[in-house]
Amino acid sequence: MLEQFEGLIKKRIVLITGKGGVGRSSVTAAIAMAAARAGKRVLVAEIGDGRDNEQRIHDYSPLARLFGLDHLPENKAEIMPGVWGSMLLPLKGHELFLASVFRVGALAKAALHSEALRRLFQAAPSLREVGIFYCLLTYLRQKHTDGTPSNELIIVDMPATGHTLALTGLPKILLSMVSRGPIADALREGQSYLNDPDQASAYVVTLPETLPVSETIELLEGLKNTNMPVGGVILNHVAQDPFTTEERLRLEKVFASHRAQGTPLLGEESFHYFEEARRESERLAREISVPLLRLPDAPPGCESLVSFLADSLLSSAAVRAGAPQ
Ligand SMILES: Nc1ncnc2c1ncn2[C@@H]1O[C@H](COP(=O)(O)OP(=O)(O)OP(=O)(O)O)[C@@H](O)[C@H]1O
Ligand SMILES: [Mg+2]
Repeated sequence: MLEQFEGLIKKRIVLITGKGGVGRSSVTAAIAMAAARAGKRVLVAEIGDGRDNEQRIHDYSPLARLFGLDHLPENKAEIMPGVWGSMLLPLKGHELFLASVFRVGALAKAALHSEALRRLFQAAPSLREVGIFYCLLTYLRQKHTDGTPSNELIIVDMPATGHTLALTGLPKILLSMVSRGPIADALREGQSYLNDPDQASAYVVTLPETLPVSETIELLEGLKNTNMPVGGVILNHVAQDPFTTEERLRLEKVFASHRAQGTPLLGEESFHYFEEARRESERLAREISVPLLRLPDAPPGCESLVSFLADSLLSSAAVRAGAPQ
């Protein structure tokens, strides 16, 4: 098992974040599969919109697709041996929260059906986050029959960078406005999980390219400002660099001397891609102070990306490609 992955599966809650298209969902599914193979009871979650039931049904989830489903279940259900899945729905969270306040589920449902209250919950963006937060807290609290946590490891495929900071920064902001009462108590309880580095970690997925690396460095700063512990950065799509430093120097000379009227030579583009990947991978390693996990680019024709990435997490050989030689 990758040393850095051992640290990850000891947590109770892991948030997978990063910019669009870097592989957050694939990495989330791979972590879930690998953690389940390592014996954990895993819950995979993603934030659903869920303004109403209709919308949920039409939601298309690329994460769920990786488990052969159209969307993750609304209430947690096993989606692969050892892996349960659930959407985190704001509305559901409000219902759970009100049920805990009123202590009677029927009253909570009735309250939510009040058009005025429902509109209020939907209008204030932070109340949407409160709903998601409360869903998460409910799953963190759930106990197995033997008293151990029902969801030993919760992995959340976070939507986009801004949403991640909205969720991780929520307790601090709201607690500065509401310091007493049931919402404050729930926020404090959630904070006790989320801000504890032994229990929670955010992992930033990125690519070995200039912009994603720069954005990752910025996001790490943002997470720090919200007191969210960072477990590491996952450098995805690390391609096997076919050149040694010596070959690279020789090739560079060939490209420089044979360029026909500025037209790139055949192969020059991929040469530069590997060059950028190596440079950016080095820059990332230099600039961050958290562990760096490297995940390989799947080979062409790979049948299951998730299984391939899970194998990489569980194998002891670190991915060296793109790493400093
Ligand atoms: N290591 C990898 N090797 C090869 N292909 C990969 C790898 N990781 C992800 N991909 C591919 O990259 C694409 C984007 O991946 P994915 O959907 O996981 O990204 P995402 O960050 O969740 O995107 P979005 O911002 O749309 O949610 C998919 O087609 C996926 O199959
Ligand atoms: Mg995704």
